[in-house]
Amino acid sequence: MKPVAIKDDIYWVGAVDWQRRDFHGYTISPYGTTYNAFLVKDEKITLFDSGPKGFAGEILCRAAQVCDLADIEYIVANHGEMDHSGALPELVERIRPKKVFCSPMAAKSLAAHYDVSGWPLEAVDFKTPLCLGKRNVHFVETRMLHWPDSMVSYLAEDKLLISQDAFGQNIAGAERFSDETDEGLLRRQAARYYANIVLPYSPMTLKTIEAIEKAGLSIDMIAPDHGVIWRGGKDVAKAIAWYKEFALQKPTRKAVIVYDTMWKSTETMAQAVASGLDDEGVAVRIMALKVNHRSDVMEEVWNAGAVLVGSPTHNNGILPPVAAMLTYMKGLKPKNKIGAAFGSYGWSGESIKIVSEALTDMGFETVPGVKCQFVPKQEALAACVALGRTVGAALAAKLSA
Ligand code: FEO
Repeated sequence: MKPVAIKDDIYWVGAVDWQRRDFHGYTISPYGTTYNAFLVKDEKITLFDSGPKGFAGEILCRAAQVCDLADIEYIVANHGEMDHSGALPELVERIRPKKVFCSPMAAKSLAAHYDVSGWPLEAVDFKTPLCLGKRNVHFVETRMLHWPDSMVSYLAEDKLLISQDAFGQNIAGAERFSDETDEGLLRRQAARYYANIVLPYSPMTLKTIEAIEKAGLSIDMIAPDHGVIWRGGKDVAKAIAWYKEFALQKPTRKAVIVYDTMWKSTETMAQAVASGLDDEGVAVRIMALKVNHRSDVMEEVWNAGAVLVGSPTHNNGILPPVAAMLTYMKGLKPKNKIGAAFGSYGWSGESIKIVSEALTDMGFETVPGVKCQFVPKQEALAACVALGRTVGAALAAKLSA
């Protein structure tokens, strides 16, 4: 693939990782990702962002089709995580830039990752734009969106925001722009990315969007470091509106039932709970952890009004896949949920208490759960249906409040 002009004298020179499936526990499904890098041809030729170790060659190869690599004077590293900085040592070695700009926090994080003793590293001053010649780069610190070292670069004259991880989606493809991409795919991948990466930082997301709107920045392109570039006012507005929606996590009349099962008793209970929710007009997603990855579950959880978690009791605890799901979900800090636990047991029956406490600990409004010894019969199944109806009614009341 060739470099792609995204604006006058600005080129996408990033890398496409068709094979990538895992991001520290978040499974990309099923499209790989891109590590976007942008080359700006001005009096000071500048490369914005890079990729992981192993992708420097692909980036250099594309950059070399735009300019002589020796003419690149600046590199800007908007974020220090290794999927955007792993290629930096090789890029710095090959390009030998006059400056490598980053945030003050990234100066620390990059130094902790690599031997930067020979790098012309310089922490940016957020008050003073960097002049490249015809254009000025305004650096905006976006701490905890999603690392303390994160910043974005706004090229005012080009109305271009290079937004680093924010507004990303994990889509590997030949298409570079949002208007070349199916809207359903784009929304799904943007939501999945948000729910699995950005969700804990939703308050910062809302604050940043508010600050952008207040500053009245004119933006007609958002170029994230993953996925396609949001091109045109309409798509930029759409990206911002979606991000607001993801960050607000307004509950909808939807419930996610997530569970694991040993001998199908908890699975049978899950079906009965779903029936009760359905009676109350709630859209149900039943997600067995044997066939759904936790990332699939989070893609459904972010806008669900209720999350019901099932586990049998196993060795006086809960099944390991459910424990992993709860740990993952807790870290992502979903908001505005009603929670409930259910599950079978053989002799002791601790799982309901463990799951209920975990949900309460996450800030869910937890309603009393249902447990059943060994195999659910009429009475236990009726209790599960009643649980579904109780949660459905509580959700309806919450939505109409
Ligand atoms: Fe895409 Fe925070 O790295």
